[in-house]
Amino acid sequence: MNEIRVFLTPEMANPRILKDSTCVVVDILRATSSWVTAIGNGAKLVRPVTTLKECKSLKSKGFLTAAERGGQKIEGFDLGNSPLEYTPAIVTGKKIAVTTTNGSRSIKYASAAKEIYIGAYLNLKALNQVLQNKGTVVVICSGWEGQPGIEDVIFAGEIVSLLSNTHVYTDDAALIAFELFKKAKQNMYFFLSQAMHVKRLLKLGLKKDIDYCLKKDVYDIVPRLIKDDIVSR
Ligand code: MLT
Repeated sequence: MNEIRVFLTPEMANPRILKDSTCVVVDILRATSSWVTAIGNGAKLVRPVTTLKECKSLKSKGFLTAAERGGQKIEGFDLGNSPLEYTPAIVTGKKIAVTTTNGSRSIKYASAAKEIYIGAYLNLKALNQVLQNKGTVVVICSGWEGQPGIEDVIFAGEIVSLLSNTHVYTDDAALIAFELFKKAKQNMYFFLSQAMHVKRLLKLGLKKDIDYCLKKDVYDIVPRLIKDDIVSR
């Protein structure tokens, strides 16, 4: 059996473990959901960067720019981090530079991995099909400013569950995620309604984003990070 491991926050990501692994970066609300949507709607690539300055600088190179901090779009950028902004009319054929509070940092922490894929409910089935045939799988949960986010951990737990015929969990973080998923799936809405980031987004009037990010298998794609860019696999 192959191994599956979970890092509950990007800061916990251990390069020694990552180097021989297939890594899945997860930020359900909302970065990886936005990136899957962008690629699924025809964007040429998504380039996650960590600073507003670097994001803005790519405008002159023909990129659409997307920036979010604290869940809110930053003034002066083309897009925010709502997946509902990434429509085919806006993104088809475009290169998108993006910086978010957490998701774009997670990508940097994942950089030691052999392969890096983008995971969300929106592409869960396609992602699972890819991971079944991989060796060690590691899921990095983006969370919020260095703290675990329950929505990402529950998703990681579902990956542990889906891979249970081919992969065995070998750390307590994966066990925590698995147990949390088994409990949450009985009443996902109740569980997620308690999540700090769900409350934050609801306060910002972004319930539509939450509902959309929880939809399963909208896209049959598994975007992958190649060098600095997320592209269709
Ligand atoms: C992030 O990447 O930090 C989150 O997706 C924040 C957000 O909801 O925009």
